[in-house]
Amino acid sequence: MTNPNIPLGSVIQGSLSQGLEVRLHPDVSVEDMRVGKFLVVQGVRSRFFCLLTDVTLGTASARILTNPPDPSDDFLLEVLAGNGTFGTIEISPMLMFTPGEGNGVGENGSKKDSSLASFEVQSSADLQLLPVKTIPSHFSQVYDASEADFRAVFGWEDDPTRRNFAIGQPLDMDVPICLDLDRFVERSNGVFGKSGTGKSFLTRLLISGIIRKKAAVNLMFDMHSEYGWEAVSEGKQFSTVKGLRQLFPGQVEIYTLDPEATKRRGVRDAQELYLSYDQIEIEDLRLVGHELNLSEASLDNANILASEFGKSWIVQLLNMTNEEIQLFCEEKQGHKGSIMALQRKLMRLDSLKYIRSVCPHNYIDQILQSLDAGKHVVVEFGSQSNMLSYMLATNMITRRIHKSYVQKADQFLRSKNPQDRPQPLVITIEEAHRFLDSSIVHQTIFGTIAREMRKYFVTLLVVDQRPSGIDNEVMSQVGTRITCLLNDDKDIDAIFTGVSGGQSLRSVLAKLDSKQQALVLGHAVPMPVVVRTRAYDSQFYEEIGETSWEEKSDEEVFAAAEAAKADLGF
Ligand SMILES: Nc1ncnc2c1ncn2[C@@H]1O[C@H](COP(=O)(O)OP(=O)(O)OP(=O)(O)O)[C@@H](O)[C@H]1O
Ligand SMILES: [Mg+2]
Repeated sequence: MTNPNIPLGSVIQGSLSQGLEVRLHPDVSVEDMRVGKFLVVQGVRSRFFCLLTDVTLGTASARILTNPPDPSDDFLLEVLAGNGTFGTIEISPMLMFTPGEGNGVGENGSKKDSSLASFEVQSSADLQLLPVKTIPSHFSQVYDASEADFRAVFGWEDDPTRRNFAIGQPLDMDVPICLDLDRFVERSNGVFGKSGTGKSFLTRLLISGIIRKKAAVNLMFDMHSEYGWEAVSEGKQFSTVKGLRQLFPGQVEIYTLDPEATKRRGVRDAQELYLSYDQIEIEDLRLVGHELNLSEASLDNANILASEFGKSWIVQLLNMTNEEIQLFCEEKQGHKGSIMALQRKLMRLDSLKYIRSVCPHNYIDQILQSLDAGKHVVVEFGSQSNMLSYMLATNMITRRIHKSYVQKADQFLRSKNPQDRPQPLVITIEEAHRFLDSSIVHQTIFGTIAREMRKYFVTLLVVDQRPSGIDNEVMSQVGTRITCLLNDDKDIDAIFTGVSGGQSLRSVLAKLDSKQQALVLGHAVPMPVVVRTRAYDSQFYEEIGETSWEEKSDEEVFAAAEAAKADLGF
């Protein structure tokens, strides 16, 4: 169907702000024009790269509508097609390329007919694609994008001058669409989509790419234990896919808050991770205030306790009798009711498996050392995956790691020595709206990281099914947004926060397939594009993984499947 040399239609009207209207040629079926398709318009001087955003049926005369032809009258249908009845498409121009303007391609590109053939890309350095500043003139011809067009815009994976990673393919062609990973890790990013659309798979793909291309080190807070080791894939038959430690055994380390569950799943050499009360700060409690049902008054009193007892205040509080609390309140102006409520509510922390009163070994420092050594760390939660645990542990660990990065970045700024330059760190969090909700975003470390961007070489990869819950200011800092299907209007609006021309892309997003399709837009791609997500399968393991796919015995496959089923409560 796609032949990039046959024109599909002519530009008939439009504007830079609203997009272009294209009337399809009679022999082109509207049914082939799918929203999200990548098209090019050959203008007189420039070539425009566009995204198809809408399809419409048109008729030349109202009489045809009032008196439609008999569907069996092929002859009349044929006579009308193209003149009386026609299809139109709306396209949004995103990028333009003008031969001769600082580009390595000669002036011959400026002639309407010869330019198509002359559009050949030798290397990415040849081309300068610019944001659209104008539109093609009347009746410019519209074509399917060719492989060369895709290469020109999205590059290719083995380009030695860039760290490109192929994230998928366009809807109707077999060419890779690449993300520029250096640009990707420069800002915080998001993977969005409703449940079951492929967010976790996309995240695994992206992180594999980052590891493979050495674009950054990763710290992943793996709420559902699906990134580090073996994850279940939905489908008719029960099957699993490899985790990152299996793909990159020498580079990924798993830490677990629930060693038993992790061992049960057959994970080899995961490291235990314990946190202690003295590592919990008031800020951490504020973040889980909702989960623990803490009042503002309790938190105020927590401050009084902390300033009196120092780091060990929680342990001391948990051991206080009512009389001691009474005494404390008389001396230090605390509020007895609030402190007792605080004590009662903090008792809940005692039930968390990984929290210790005191912990001789500092596990967070150990994680930091792993990251410093260039290892990627996945923190598994096992049975401790409730919101309270996830938010508490994630915040505690991230706060310390961020602090160390701030020091390292300052050191680098002072010395300007390239060896002091910290390796970029990407922190992956799930259910991100819980951390980045407007009401708490100003108090959490995640809000800080999202807002300060790459200043300290730390960025976030947020994975979320409810982007409308994320604070607007944070959302507008999200550099690259990879979005699977979303239905809720508010969520769709959130995706386009701070994106100019976002309105025309709404229809593209709302019409994605429910699985393995995504709209990619932002910092790491030159223009918005719809991709069929790259399959995360044995072929991918072979292309990207550290070792090639090793064969497992049937027993091993069966045992792993049983363990995974048991963990999921099948
Ligand atoms: N790139 C891919 N390669 C192979 N299979 C995929 C891919 N993307 C999605 N799938 C299929 O879609 C299913 C759902 O994907 P996934 O688990 O990533 O959804 P999700 O968006 O993370 O859902 P939830 O919000 O419930 O966590 C997978 O189990 C898998 O079968
Ligand atoms: Mg998921």
